[in-house]
Amino acid sequence: MSSCRHLAIIMDGNGRWAKAQGKPRTMGHLAGADNVRNIAIAANEAGVKYLTLYAFSTENWKRSEEEVGYLMKLPAYLFQKYMREFMERGFRIRTIGELDRLPAATAKVLRDAEEESKDNPGLNLIIAINYGSRREILLAARKYAEDVRDGRANDLEEDGFSSYLMTDGIPDVDFLIRTSGEQRISNYLLWQIAYAELMFVPESWPEFTPEVLNRCLDAYAHRDRRFGGVHES
Ligand code: IPE
Ligand code: IPE
Ligand code: MG
Repeated sequence: MSSCRHLAIIMDGNGRWAKAQGKPRTMGHLAGADNVRNIAIAANEAGVKYLTLYAFSTENWKRSEEEVGYLMKLPAYLFQKYMREFMERGFRIRTIGELDRLPAATAKVLRDAEEESKDNPGLNLIIAINYGSRREILLAARKYAEDVRDGRANDLEEDGFSSYLMTDGIPDVDFLIRTSGEQRISNYLLWQIAYAELMFVPESWPEFTPEVLNRCLDAYAHRDRRFGGVHES
């Protein structure tokens, strides 16, 4: 039985969930934001130390201006409503993704939450926003090339390369869950999921309750992670 230190979730299906109830897609995103709080608490209670949530991908800019604008306001909604509780629970808010390409107000809300919680000892709640894994790997390669050029580095190993990624200091993903039935990775944490266990669940993100999470974590705990080795029975 292995415990899940780093859980990553692709929070998918908000739009379809709302449409199925005759509501606009944005109402799905709002319900999804409230669910971030519920699942962060449940993951923390289950012993997860790092929870990385895919909130907005580098591809999501293709959506309508209205939908993108709505999504960009959700960090302010989330932290106004729940930051006090996150602080009380000792959560450390972190981000991955290019914040400087977000609307200034959105970036500020995220940076303020990171700053306020930076000394907290508890769950690392990592929001992936304007995040794309290919972009992350490209930026890492560029930074490494600069370091070689300037004489700061010259022999790269896997661990060393990891430190150039936006997830520097964060352990590899143990378990990746995607909601809403889609079975793809959508440019998420490509390097970091090299040996993650994967699970695709039919529930949309607003329907992904702590009970569903706990079922997933139970299933994870029974997986045999071999990392290329052999377990004698
Ligand atoms: C996930 O839900 C949230 C984001 C990608 C921002 P979607 O908005 O992708 O919902 P569906 O997949 O269209 O139902
Ligand atoms: C992935 O969901 C991105 C996020 C959950 C933020 P999408 O709904 O954007 O993914 P695709 O386009 O269906 O692959
Ligand atoms: Mg989707």
